[in-house]
Amino acid sequence: MTELIADRNQWMALLRLEVPVIDEQHNHLLGLVCGFDPADPSDKARLLLMEILRYTREHFRMEEELMTEAGYPHLAGHRNLHDDLLKEAVRFAVRDLSSRLVRQEFHDFLRDWLTNHVLQADRALADFLRESRGSSHGAA
Ligand SMILES: [Fe+2]
Repeated sequence: MTELIADRNQWMALLRLEVPVIDEQHNHLLGLVCGFDPADPSDKARLLLMEILRYTREHFRMEEELMTEAGYPHLAGHRNLHDDLLKEAVRFAVRDLSSRLVRQEFHDFLRDWLTNHVLQADRALADFLRESRGSSHGAA
């Protein structure tokens, strides 16, 4: 999995869910994560971390709205996963980002979380959305 992040396009191909509104936001999120370079000791790390938190909140809100509109049966569980992730991510905002180790931890946390969450929880949601759209509108 670690090698995949070296190539953003390959990583995105792995995570593509064929629900354009979700894929576009995941792609943007991947871009932010790939732009976070643990080796860079400058203030950029904090700015990027704050932007990742802001965008992730926005993205989660969008997914939760989609789930509500579609009557997704696993909304509560999926929302709990989002809340847990945000809590864990916010913990990095109060840590010392001048430490290379902390920056690396944050980077690895995001990479692993994003990959696992998209491949499991978001994939289940995407399957549901495609199926429900297919049955109600005759097209995926
Ligand atoms: Fe999600």
